[in-house]
Order: sequence, then C-alpha cells, then structure tokens
Amino acid sequence: MSALVLIVEDEPGVREGLVGAVERLGYVAAAAASLAEARRELAARSPDCVLLDIRLRDGDGLDLLREIRAGEQHDVPVIVATAYGDSERTIRAMRDGAFDYLTKPFDFPALLATVERAVKQRALAQALTIPPPPPARSGLVGTSTAMLAIWKLIGRAAASSDAPVLITGETGTGKELVARAIHDYSARAPAPFVAVNLAALPPTLLESELFGHERGAFTGAAQRRFGRIEAAGAGTLFLDEIGDVDAALQTKLLRVLADGRYERVGGDEAQTAKARIVSATNKPVRPGDAGSVLRDDLYYRLAVIEIEVPPLRARRSDIPLLVAHALSATAARAVSEETMAYLLAYRWPGNVRELIHVIQRAAALCAGEIIDVTNLPDAVREPSERVAGAGDVRDEADEGVTLKEAVAALEKRLIVRALERAQGNRSEAARQLGIGRPQLYAKIEEYGIGSDDES
Ligand SMILES: Nc1ncnc2c1ncn2[C@@H]1O[C@H](COP(=O)(O)OP(=O)(O)OP(=O)(O)O)[C@@H](O)[C@H]1O
Ligand SMILES: [Mg+2]
Repeated sequence: MSALVLIVEDEPGVREGLVGAVERLGYVAAAAASLAEARRELAARSPDCVLLDIRLRDGDGLDLLREIRAGEQHDVPVIVATAYGDSERTIRAMRDGAFDYLTKPFDFPALLATVERAVKQRALAQALTIPPPPPARSGLVGTSTAMLAIWKLIGRAAASSDAPVLITGETGTGKELVARAIHDYSARAPAPFVAVNLAALPPTLLESELFGHERGAFTGAAQRRFGRIEAAGAGTLFLDEIGDVDAALQTKLLRVLADGRYERVGGDEAQTAKARIVSATNKPVRPGDAGSVLRDDLYYRLAVIEIEVPPLRARRSDIPLLVAHALSATAARAVSEETMAYLLAYRWPGNVRELIHVIQRAAALCAGEIIDVTNLPDAVREPSERVAGAGDVRDEADEGVTLKEAVAALEKRLIVRALERAQGNRSEAARQLGIGRPQLYAKIEEYGIGSDDES
C-alpha cells in the first residue's frame, strides 16, 4: 500500500503542483486548503507525512504542528514550509518536532527528497515530548541558508535537553548567542544559564570557581563556596573557550560528563551535577586537528551535538540585515550604497563582532545620518582584505557576475523579503533594511519590484 501524504497549502496553484509532484513519486496525495480542512483530514485518516504551510488563512500552521505532536498521530513526520526564513518560527518548528523546515519558493527535487526521507523514517519516528513555550527571542539576526541551518540545529538541541552540545566557529560568529538560544528554547529555560570563561582564570582558581571549595581547602578559603556547576542547578552550564583547558581540568570535566560526578576542592564527598553542558571554542578541537589540546574522549563527550557556526564571509547575504541591526543602536540611519558594497566584499576576520564595531565606530564618526565610505576603517577599504571573488556577494559560487550585478540581485532579494516581512509596509521595510524611505522607493522603481510576480 503506498504512503499517504497530506498537503496543507492555501495557494491553489502551489497545492496542485505539490499534489502532482507527490503523486509522481508514487504516493497517494490528500490536500487541505485550510487548518480546518487539515484537521478534518487528520480525523478521517492517518497520513504518513504532512507537508504543512505555516501561513494559512485561518491560522498558524505551527498550532497544527503542536496539535499533531500532542495527539494520537504524534509520530507522523511534519515538513513545515513558509515563504521566508524566520528565525523564531524555524527554531520553534524544529523544537516542536517538525521533521524539517523548507522555504518557498520550493526547490522541488529537494522537497521531494525530503518527503521520501520523511516517509521512510516514519517507521522509526519516536514520540517527541513538548517543552514549555519559549521565553525570549534568540537575538540572532540573519536569513541566509547557513543561518537557517543554525536555527534548525538550535531547535533540535533545545528539544533534546540533556545531550551535551559543542559550538565551534571563528571568533565573533555568535557562539555565545547560540548557546543562550539553546538554553532559552529548551525545557531547562526556567533554571539558570551560567557561563564560565575557561580561558579567563588560572587553572587552580578555575577549578574552585567551577566545582566550589570546602572551608580551609587552601590559604584564604575561609568559607565553603559553591561552584558555578552548582549555581547552574538543573539549568545550563556554558563552558566558553573549552579549547584552552589544561589536562588536569579535562580529566575532571570528563568525569562530570561521564557520570555527573565531581568533588569540591578540598572535599571528598562526591557531588552530582544536574546541569546540561554546552561548550564553545574558536580553537581546533576535533581529534586529529593540528594544535588541538583537547583529549579525544572529552571531545566525543562534549560534542554529542555539534554546531558549527559559519564565518560571516560564508553567509554574506546576512550582512545588510546585520548592518541594519547594528545601526538600530546608533544615531545613524543608513549606509551609502558604496559603503554597503565595501561591507559586502570585506573578509571580516572578526565576523559579526567586528561588523558591529565597524558600524558603531562609523556612526560615531559620521556627520549626518548616512554612513559614508570615509567613515570606514582602512582595513575594510583595503583591496587585499576582500574575499577572493568578492564580486560574488551571494553565498553560493556564482562566477562571471560583476559586483554591481551581484549587489543589485542581492538588494532586490533583500527588499522583496523585507517587504514580505513588513507585509507591504514600506516605512517598516525601509527601517528593517536600514535605508531611507526615498531610497527604498527609488529601488522598488529601479528593480520593478511588485510589478512582476516576485513573491
Ligand atoms: N547572528 C547575529 N545576530 C546578531 N548579533 C550577533 C550575531 N552573531 C553575533 N552577534 C553579536 O556579535 C558579538 C559576538 O558574538 P559572540 O560573543 O556570541 O561571539 P563568539 O562566537 O562567542 O566569539 P568568540 O569566539 O570570540 O568568543 C556579540 O555582540 C553578539 O551579540
Ligand atoms: Mg564567545
């Protein structure tokens, strides 16, 4: 008997296209144009896979996802689809047990491959428990494919709230924000998030900072002191700069990870650690990496889930949004077009942190509301500091385009997305993009946005 795929999509053209494609794969397709229809279908039969649009006329597809997860058919894989990458929704969808998250317009071969994977895995699907509603937003800005992947991983890591997570990536890529997001979206969110910078203290102090000490453990230890691991309780202990830890502490950490046990300095009573361990580093730590000081067994214990945050130059389409994000904390309102071209081409060795500094400094230097190239540090304007093939401002390889063409294509894409996000409100879109309204109108005109079938 062939598998049944339920397609929930309110756009008739898209719905019919999906039905046809799914049937060509040899599956039986059922279609629903609204949440109400989808609920009726689900009551009447049990699909092997649900393809769920998020924005439906009668409500939010994520509500249906949660209903499915809480109901009798909780193990049916649900592939969630929406018109653009939205961090909040992606993280929630993955956390709430979506099988995968796809953005429109659909890449049909990829979509069908995902449906096949979902149907095959159905037999293995395990019930996912539903954590309580999430607190704060992640604070992570970006809509690139690479960021979308990071949100998915955050959602997955949040769902399995005991597995240790290792976050790797260059300096300034946002590893700490990722660690906080994992905590905030996990079932551990009501408990503390405690961060310890392992590179900031000498080894002996670090040990008592982490594990605490008994009274009289060493000169000056007049009182018993609880360690950070105890302070984290049933929350998350964030071990930052794990790539710098000395051998003695590695042994102790290994024991914490292996059986949750440790002793306070100067004490012999075994304590039990309840916190989840999330660690981060910008150093090489994988077994076999040159220069790694981390022992292999500790690496494997720390990296049950590993999240590698890509450098900014590998997700350059996020730069305009990050610039707008950085501008929002300054008196400046926008950057000139030429400035943006430099910002897009620069190789950003310090990643997002460096970008935020560059914008803050430029805003402080700039006389008016628009940041100009002369406000940029020399390094950003230095040709040798540009990414090879910087004419390509897309994230994927894209040969034979001029910088101007690539910038135009990217601008157009970002404007279309911002308008979608702002639901057509141009002032809001201009604000999100960090440009003035007149500039936005000029570009809408120039690129003919809205006059053709863009979205
Ligand atoms: N995607 C993002 N959106 C918004 N802000 C970001 C993003 N990524 C990083 N930042 C900001 O950039 C700065 C650096 O981020 P963070 O401290 O998380 O970097 P890190 O990866 O831990 O770097 P390091 O390895 O040097 O410790 C912070 O101010 C953070 O808020
Ligand atoms: Mg950090």
